[in-house]
Amino acid sequence: MTLQIKPDSADYVARISGVDLSRPLDEASVGAIVEASDKYAVLVFHDQPLTDEQLVNFGASFGPLDVGLQEKLMKKVQDRYASAAISDISNVDGSSGDVADRKHKQAIMNVGNRFWHSDSSYDRHPYRYSILTAKTVASKGGATEYADLRAAYDALDEDTKALIADRTATFYSHFTRQWLGIEDRPEDLRVFPPVRWPMVRTHPGSGRKLLWCDSKVCEISGMSIPEGRALAHELIEHIGQRERVYSHYWQPHDVILYDNRSVLHRGRRFDMTERREMRRVATVDSSEALEQAPVSVALPAGMLAAG
Ligand SMILES: [Fe+2]
Repeated sequence: MTLQIKPDSADYVARISGVDLSRPLDEASVGAIVEASDKYAVLVFHDQPLTDEQLVNFGASFGPLDVGLQEKLMKKVQDRYASAAISDISNVDGSSGDVADRKHKQAIMNVGNRFWHSDSSYDRHPYRYSILTAKTVASKGGATEYADLRAAYDALDEDTKALIADRTATFYSHFTRQWLGIEDRPEDLRVFPPVRWPMVRTHPGSGRKLLWCDSKVCEISGMSIPEGRALAHELIEHIGQRERVYSHYWQPHDVILYDNRSVLHRGRRFDMTERREMRRVATVDSSEALEQAPVSVALPAGMLAAG
């Protein structure tokens, strides 16, 4: 059986069949998946039960996997997986194995995921592909939504394109968490210093321009902090317009590979007393993308008041 790519009605989403992700992929299959992701950005695979090891191996077919998030930060919350490449996107309390109390840090982490973001946009070494798979799904809600940053750029009016053309945005890892009132330890706030990115980027695989802004943006160059934050809010609202959004309602053993350079995503609400268990691995983006990312050393005013 050969790999089959079936476009979804959302033109940046495709369903992939004819491949067994639990087995090592040959070079041609990896190439076909990369090519498909350049075009579609969100690739959905159904009925792919993967062990932790198989998930790690599948992810590693596309480049080195990030372990920094788990090692530097998430390990302090809990550490349920043998591989630091696996992110625990669940509401399971690691010590009891039961659904975490809604005040548990692991449960609160899920709340932070409800805002539009690109995984690791705040990191000097951001992610290229994230691969998310469902083990246990919520009976209702709990969708993951994806919004196309390339179409969002194309749909901007000319004035707004000109306004952001030469600006950079500062992304800060804990910006949403601070807004949510989560009290993180001062040392954790400094793990990922803020970074700056051009607000208009070109995807190297497709050559398409994209609007680079997410909920971690706390400042825009050449603007006051309030003006920058208001513009970021407006742009995120634009990105998340219904015609640019695909909602994925998970079935167990679904696997989604998404290109963080092309789409934002967010997790939707679900009953937090129900078990919802996802795992994720992610590849680190290439040095070519990092050349566009001068690092800001100045923390936004007031951001680290607790420190
Ligand atoms: Fe995410």
